[in-house]
Parts: sequence; structure tokens; C-alpha cells
Amino acid sequence: MINSRLIGRRIIVFGSATGIGAATVARLVAEGARVCAADINFEGATKVAEAAGGETFAVHVDIADETSVTQAVNAVVERFGGLDGAHINAADLRVILQDSDALNVDLDVFDRTVAVNLRGHLLCTRAVLPHLLKNKASAIVYTSSGSAQGAEPTRPSYAMTKAGVNALMRHVASRWGREGVTANVLAPGFTVTGEMKSQMEANPEEAGKWADFFMARTPHTRLGESEDHAGVVALLLSDDGRWINGAIVDVNGGSLMRG
Ligand SMILES: NC(=O)c1ccc[n+]([C@@H]2O[C@H](COP(=O)([O-])OP(=O)(O)OC[C@H]3O[C@@H](n4cnc5c(N)ncnc54)[C@H](O)[C@@H]3O)[C@@H](O)[C@H]2O)c1
Repeated sequence: MINSRLIGRRIIVFGSATGIGAATVARLVAEGARVCAADINFEGATKVAEAAGGETFAVHVDIADETSVTQAVNAVVERFGGLDGAHINAADLRVILQDSDALNVDLDVFDRTVAVNLRGHLLCTRAVLPHLLKNKASAIVYTSSGSAQGAEPTRPSYAMTKAGVNALMRHVASRWGREGVTANVLAPGFTVTGEMKSQMEANPEEAGKWADFFMARTPHTRLGESEDHAGVVALLLSDDGRWINGAIVDVNGGSLMRG
């Protein structure tokens, strides 16, 4: 065990079959938490839960669907007897390459992005909050993105939803902080997840261009990896992060700094 600061904590991670969410499940379990890996990709979430060990289990959820979210949260509460934390991390990234610009973006792409990345986060918040409020100290961590604060010529739908997640987080932090629920945002910069690594290996020339592009904007020795975020989420869900409320935590190697 890395440390024991999450022993006994009951946590759900929405969007946990791959990438940052999968790494977070492993990290939370390594710190002693009981974790539910929730994802639209149930097979992937099941593999993540099995690999993490402990009392981890997987549920299917489509966070754009209210009934599905309610069922997933009920399943965790039934299994663990309550809930102490939630990491709301899911985003539909299949459409991100079609998220061209404000003049040309297909409205179906925009609507799906809003349905998952924004409305879905509200649905998850509404489902977990009544359970979190039963405890004296509980926490929500949302995954937003540096794109909410940066300026980009592409992917307007994505950036708009991530800015909305930041606003939702601040609302929750200010409305329910006094009742014991903290809310914060993890804002990753460009992160090479395990899945991205495989794609990059399959197309090294294109991958090299992307890596060079992001490294040129990152005052660090390397690009980010999923595990860089998992430890920060664990901190925000633990007593070590108890006094952090309403914060956007940039985890990006310094790429958003102004020179
Ligand atoms: N990787 C990066 O460079 C980067 C940078 C900034 C922000 N982020 C954010 O980090 C989070 C995780 O991204 P990632 O890079 O690990 O990507 P990922 O695609 O590996 O992870 C997203 C997870 O969400 C799940 N998901 C998608 N739609 C869902 C739905 N409707 N209901 C439930 N689950 C659903 C996917 O199946 C997947 O497991 C996302 O919110 C993303 O926007 C990532």
C-alpha cells in the first residue's frame, strides 16, 4: 500500500475503463479505498476493477442517462453501505476530432459533447450528493481540462463543456461546503494515457509531431501520464486535501503558465 489515507473510504469513479480514471481506481485502492469503477465500457471497467483488487467492483453507466446514473450509484451504496467520495471523470472523446470550429461543428457532435461532458456531470452530482451529505466529510473531484482556460482554434464544444464543469464545481463547493462536501476540479494538460501510447506507437511519425507540439509548450522534462493525475485525485478525496475547496488544480507540467 502506498499509504493508508483512504482506508475505509467508499468512492465511485465515473469514467474508469481507461486512461486517467483507470489509473485513479488503481491509486485509490492502493491507498486503502473501496472503489466502484463505473463506465459505459463495462468490460474495460471490469478489467480495471479486477486488476486493482481489494473490494473493487465495476458497474455499467452511461452518465448521459439519468436512470443509468441512479442505478449505478444505488448499486455502490447498496454494496458499500454509503458513499464518501466521487470522481466524475467521464468524457466522450470519440467525437473530439470532429469538434472543428464554431462555424462548422456538426450540432450532433456538440449535443453529444454537452450530453456527456456537461449534463452528465450534473446528473452524477445529483445522484451522489444526497449520499455524500450523510457524512461529516466527503468530497467530489471533477475532471475538467486546461482547455477551459486556454484559447484554442479548434474543439469549441469540448472547451465550452469543460468551462461549464468548472462552474458546476464552484457551485457545489459554495452551496454544500458548509455541510461537509468539498468540490474541486482536476484540470489536466495534454496527457499520454496508455491507450494513446498504443495509438502513438502505431503511427510514430504523426505521434512525434504531436509530442513535439506539446513539449514545446510544456516547461518540463516530459509529457503528462495518467498516474500524474491519479495521485492528485487521491489527495483531493483524502483528509490531506480537506481544506481544499472550490479549487481548479492544474496538473499540466506548467503548460498554462504565462511566460
Ligand atoms: N488525456 C488528456 O490529454 C486529457 C487532457 C485534459 C483533460 N482530460 C480529461 O480527462 C478525463 C479522462 O480522459 P482520458 O484521457 O483518460 O480519456 P479516456 O477516453 O481514456 O477516458 C474516458 C472514459 O470515460 C468513459 N466514458 C465515455 N463516455 C461515457 C459515458 N457516457 N458514460 C460513462 N463513461 C463514459 C470512456 O469509456 C473512458 O473509459 C476526461 O474528462 C478528459 O476530458 C484528458
